Amino acid sequence: MELPPPLHHLTELALAGVSATELIQAGELLSRRYRAEVQDGRLHLTDDLAARAYLVTRLPATYAAIWACMGAVAAARPDFAPRTLLDVGAGPGSALWAAAERWSSLGDALLIEASPTIRAWGERATAGATFGVSWRTADVTTALTDIEPRDLVSAAYVLNELAPAARNEFVDRLWSLTADTLLLVEPGTPAGWARILSARARLIAAGASLLAPCPHAADCPLASPDWCHFSQRVARTRAHRQAKRADVAWEDEKYIYLAASRYSGVEPQARVLATPRARSGFVTLKLCTQDGTARERPVSRREGAVFKAARRTGWGDTF
Ligand SMILES: C[S@@+](CC[C@H](N)C(=O)[O-])C[C@H]1O[C@@H](n2cnc3c(N)ncnc32)[C@H](O)[C@@H]1O
Repeated sequence: MELPPPLHHLTELALAGVSATELIQAGELLSRRYRAEVQDGRLHLTDDLAARAYLVTRLPATYAAIWACMGAVAAARPDFAPRTLLDVGAGPGSALWAAAERWSSLGDALLIEASPTIRAWGERATAGATFGVSWRTADVTTALTDIEPRDLVSAAYVLNELAPAARNEFVDRLWSLTADTLLLVEPGTPAGWARILSARARLIAAGASLLAPCPHAADCPLASPDWCHFSQRVARTRAHRQAKRADVAWEDEKYIYLAASRYSGVEPQARVLATPRARSGFVTLKLCTQDGTARERPVSRREGAVFKAARRTGWGDTF
């Protein structure tokens, strides 16, 4: 998985004209704010240095996670061909480009972002888009009023930046703007999972069908200290490694998501909740299943085709 050329170009532009030290400091400040989920009334990406640090150190990972989530939507709904997209808290347009990679049907996108700084970066990439893109600088907790429903609505890594009191209404509003499918993505932390569970309950109550990752609409069977999350490996460029003072050429982005749809015809399939464990003659899968339970399923070599299928699955796949 690589960044599409328009986003890759943005990350290169972000490196120009700033020193490595400035980028490292800005990246560390951003990372501390994200880790602590700071809510001090300021957006994290208001100044240009923070935006550049985001592009170099976070965008590859958020793009990869969104791309993986959209892959799960496409796998659940091979017939889904969204023409219109609404992405809120768009940042530099990560979800737009992931959607464009997944669905060539995409013809028109509306991106809403509160920070003019990161929006300006995103606009540099969308200036060359071959489909219609409009941007709005607005607060998504108050400004989602005069918008027509869109086939695909997304909010990636945004719920965690909203005041807890604003989240329910935000989710309700996004659902009302969803003509077909709503995708929420959050960091794969216990707190991110809790936010997704709360949105999940509201969406089920509103009549949504769950496309992924849950194969059922019963209560989540996982209980603390366990939590549902997935992982996507992301290659780090040299600049990315330098900005993070890291030696390893990759990182694993942990994320959690929910794809809720007005379409209800998908046959639910069990979801693999951890990296499968292989030992002589067995592959053990941790599964969330259609009956609303989570359990370990040892698959024996004697099960032939099922064993072969189990060996091919990975964390996050259906089984
Ligand atoms: C972590 S970034 C995620 C950006 C992009 N969705 C991605 O996944 O790469 C969160 C974005 O949401 C924006 N944001 C936060 N609160 C917002 C609000 N109330 N209204 C609009 N945008 C908001 C931030 O400015 C930031 O660009």
